[in-house]
Amino acid sequence: MTAITSRTEESEHGCPLQPARTCRNQSETERIAEALAEIAEPGDCYLLSGPIGAGKSVFARSFIQARLRQFGLYEEVPSPTYTLVQIYQAGPVQIWHSDLFRLNSPAEVTELALQDAFPHAISLVEWPDRLGGLAPRDAVRIAFEHIDAAPGGRLLRFKHSSGRIGDCLRHA
Ligand SMILES: Nc1ncnc2c1ncn2[C@@H]1O[C@H](COP(=O)(O)OP(=O)(O)O)[C@@H](O)[C@H]1O
Ligand SMILES: [Mg+2]
Repeated sequence: MTAITSRTEESEHGCPLQPARTCRNQSETERIAEALAEIAEPGDCYLLSGPIGAGKSVFARSFIQARLRQFGLYEEVPSPTYTLVQIYQAGPVQIWHSDLFRLNSPAEVTELALQDAFPHAISLVEWPDRLGGLAPRDAVRIAFEHIDAAPGGRLLRFKHSSGRIGDCLRHA
């Protein structure tokens, strides 16, 4: 008989440790994004980090389109590389999708008014290191990594302290 042990561990930020998720292909990344979009609430902020091509925009696009579908809506979701922010109206809630790669300082973030949107919108932020101290403390962090041995494979590492999101990820 195999003994099954379980331990509750804490990360250095005091959040329960989240198991990393392996996505073997783009569809698996999209499925996780769609599941999280279903249960998203105003004020949720997702900080999407990782190198160029890791899948941050793929995740954001699936998330936004899934949320729009709940309201019978469809929109193209281009990468906001040049516009910096794209805003979508999903029923009563706005979704702010930003890509801060080209910003150099938190002062430029302030000009985009992201911090005003954080409390009431659903926010998806690529290159969140540019936020400096403006990142919401209770944001959901997802770090995307390429899996070198598997083209099309990605590792998603989650860090958050939300029971709602934890439940969703366990079933996604
Ligand atoms: N498992 C995967 N998850 C997400 N994207 C993947 C995956 N496998 C391959 N891709 C491809 O990787 C690229 C990711 O691009 P993108 O989302 O724009 O990256 P980023 O926004 O992180 O710079 C897309 O061309 C996508 O088709
Ligand atoms: Mg991108």
